[in-house]
Amino acid sequence: MSSRRDFMGMALGGFTALGSIGALYAMKKSWDPLPSVKAAGFTTIDLTDAKENEITTKEWRGKPIFLMKKSKDMKPHDRDIVVGEDRYLVNVGLCTHLGCIPSYKPAEKEFLCACHGGKFDASGVNLPNLPPVVPLDIPPFSISGTKMVLGGTGPEYEKLLADGLTRKV
Ligand code: FES
Repeated sequence: MSSRRDFMGMALGGFTALGSIGALYAMKKSWDPLPSVKAAGFTTIDLTDAKENEITTKEWRGKPIFLMKKSKDMKPHDRDIVVGEDRYLVNVGLCTHLGCIPSYKPAEKEFLCACHGGKFDASGVNLPNLPPVVPLDIPPFSISGTKMVLGGTGPEYEKLLADGLTRKV
């Protein structure tokens, strides 16, 4: 009789434990961000991570983001992100022809896309008479000091869009 009671006790304990795990799982699911929030995908990058004439690759919404500090000998461009005296390139690292990842050639100060020979200058502008017909895209951003939030849209980004210096991505 007592062994039957033991068995019932253990079974009841087991069910209670399973129920608790289920409840914890349900609670965790309700705490996780909604898929729409995850998809909104804000990423903060610090421009001080950038190196002169060298690409640092970040990631935003699964896309590579090229970050580079422009050296003094590089031509300034209205697409540059300007903080104080410093100029930065922040571009989506996908060729605007068919989406390959271009590589940066520091000696030439150019991006070369190996897929079909596309080239972009150090401001991310496509070189003429090659397959890409538009510059590398600039991700939406807002800026505060040297911190850049990708996925937000601040006045600097709105101006780039209004001036036709990037496409909306
Ligand atoms: S994908 Fe880059 S040149 Fe075609």
